[in-house]
Amino acid sequence: MDILKINQLKKVFSTGAEDLTILHDLNMNVEGGKSTVITGESGSGKSTLLNLIGGMDNLSSGEIYSCGFPIHTMTEKQLTEYRRKSIGLVFQSHYLLKDFSALENIAIPARIAGFDKKKALMKAEELIEKVGLADRKEHFPSQLSGGERQRIALARSLVNDPELILADEPTGNLDEKNSRIVEDILFSLVEEFGKSLLLVTHNLILAERVDKAYHLTGGVLEEK
Ligand SMILES: Nc1ncnc2c1ncn2[C@@H]1O[C@H](COP(=O)(O)OP(=O)(O)OP(=O)(O)O)[C@@H](O)[C@H]1O
Ligand SMILES: [Mg+2]
Repeated sequence: MDILKINQLKKVFSTGAEDLTILHDLNMNVEGGKSTVITGESGSGKSTLLNLIGGMDNLSSGEIYSCGFPIHTMTEKQLTEYRRKSIGLVFQSHYLLKDFSALENIAIPARIAGFDKKKALMKAEELIEKVGLADRKEHFPSQLSGGERQRIALARSLVNDPELILADEPTGNLDEKNSRIVEDILFSLVEEFGKSLLLVTHNLILAERVDKAYHLTGGVLEEK
């Protein structure tokens, strides 16, 4: 069963005088409980594609079905709900809130999704253990290393138990050791918890570990 299915997706950016076609009639699918990678050089459209799947941008034509929802027909309100509950987003930068502790940062999306404070913090406690940072609960982002911040961001992306994890260069800012830790957590989500992972990366070692690989060249996607 596909958790993600994209049909004839096109994305055109209109900037002033000219139209720029970034994604050309793109087709792809992600099987539930599997890991899928997209590689491609800088500017090939990887983040644009992930943003569309995440319901953060409007497509020009085509269809995106994700987690059972027709993303291309949904209202802004429905998309917000989808982003909160069905998908987990991880970026190259962590975007943690500096005035909140590590534990509170993880809990925030659960609070936004309507859980009371106690329940949200309980979920956060579980996840901070999962990423191996239970002894850093009270630390603020400025008191954590880059690798630790990314692990907290990863835990935060999981707090509402998403089906599909969208990760855009999640190890892009990390050294080899920390990349490995973050990668292992990402793959454990697929292997142990049956999550589906769609990963964008330049990291070839990481790209070797996945079930399925796509390569994007100038907005044209090919399965490898
Ligand atoms: N809002 C926008 N308006 C116009 N053009 C855009 C916009 N966003 C992205 N682009 C263009 O779309 C192309 C693809 O950008 P995108 O960020 O998807 O690339 P990428 O594959 O993620 O690259 P990188 O590996 O550097 O992150 C680029 O040429 C970029 O200039
Ligand atoms: Mg990008």
